[in-house]
Amino acid sequence: MDNDIERLMELTSGRHELESLVKECLAVIDECGTAREVESARVSLLGKKGKIPRIFKGLSELPTDEKRAVGRIGNELLKLVTRLLKEKGGSLSDAGAGDTPKGRALDVSLPGRIKRAGHRHLLTSVIEEVISIFIGLGYRVETGPDVELDYYNFEALNQPPYHPARSLQDTLYVRREDPEKDNPGDILLRTHTSPVQIRVMESRKPPLFVISPGKAYRRDEIDATHSTVFHQVEGFAVDHGISMGHLKGTLEVFARKLFGNKRDVRFRPHFFPFTEPSAEVDVSCFVCEGRGCKLCKGVGWLEILGCGMIDPNVFTNIGYDPEEYTGFAFGMGIERIAMMKYGINDIRTFFDNDIRFLSQF
Ligand code: PHE
Repeated sequence: MDNDIERLMELTSGRHELESLVKECLAVIDECGTAREVESARVSLLGKKGKIPRIFKGLSELPTDEKRAVGRIGNELLKLVTRLLKEKGGSLSDAGAGDTPKGRALDVSLPGRIKRAGHRHLLTSVIEEVISIFIGLGYRVETGPDVELDYYNFEALNQPPYHPARSLQDTLYVRREDPEKDNPGDILLRTHTSPVQIRVMESRKPPLFVISPGKAYRRDEIDATHSTVFHQVEGFAVDHGISMGHLKGTLEVFARKLFGNKRDVRFRPHFFPFTEPSAEVDVSCFVCEGRGCKLCKGVGWLEILGCGMIDPNVFTNIGYDPEEYTGFAFGMGIERIAMMKYGINDIRTFFDNDIRFLSQF
């Protein structure tokens, strides 16, 4: 038996009333089968009008010797009951029994609760897939800040303040020096991942083979194909003697790894301020094999990225000699690629966090 109980039994032996009070307390606690019952036992035994405080109330009428003896019993009983109630309460909640009746605390025949395992977001897996293809080609990953200076986002990329191409990308500004005109010191949310080209070239020397995933921001109206925040993967290579042939070969390998070996790849002339010549890359539609369908809007081709040979002006801006180095760069929109690859027709579904969508991929 519990030492404290034993001692109380000794102290109360011969004192009938107190002896039976101790037994009663023990029985009440023992019978508690739920947390609620523990609580009402606590009130009836320890509460203001409870059985134990009543012991102390009668003390003043007793002779000194008795006062001491009964007082001690009262204190010991108070301590014991407090401890036992606490232990009982603890063991009930440990068993998870809560308010279920004693004896039926745990139904071991109930089926278990299945924990659903999460997984990577589709955009994350596509980004990882793209990156791993380039890592296989010897590229290394670099990243840059989302909050960027006008200088890195535009100016150094051959888009000086008056450049008409700036209006093509509606920019979200954090701080402008002059609301009337652009300034290289303006702080903005980068409109593409291309500023990473400048930051890496500034801090390292060629040979550079870099792949850079990240977010980009534009002041677009949100609809099925536009989001103010989206993801891009930028890539670039700078070294002696890098040619358009290297660009074509690299992107062909990439497109086939991502969209399948049977894909045809074509380069369509395009314009970007920071590349010359520039191109957009299309892959033959993997739904209709180029015959024309809903996905490719009857064209047979799907645009997957923009690219080109890095403009000599960009090299000059960084202090590279364009006679010594050449390079190529490319940038792709991840949402666009994921939508094509997985037949998703609304970009907003990526960001809605609807489990019914997320768990499909
Ligand atoms: N930055 C361009 C865009 O956002 C893509 C691009 C990157 C084009 C690198 C050429 C070279 O559309």
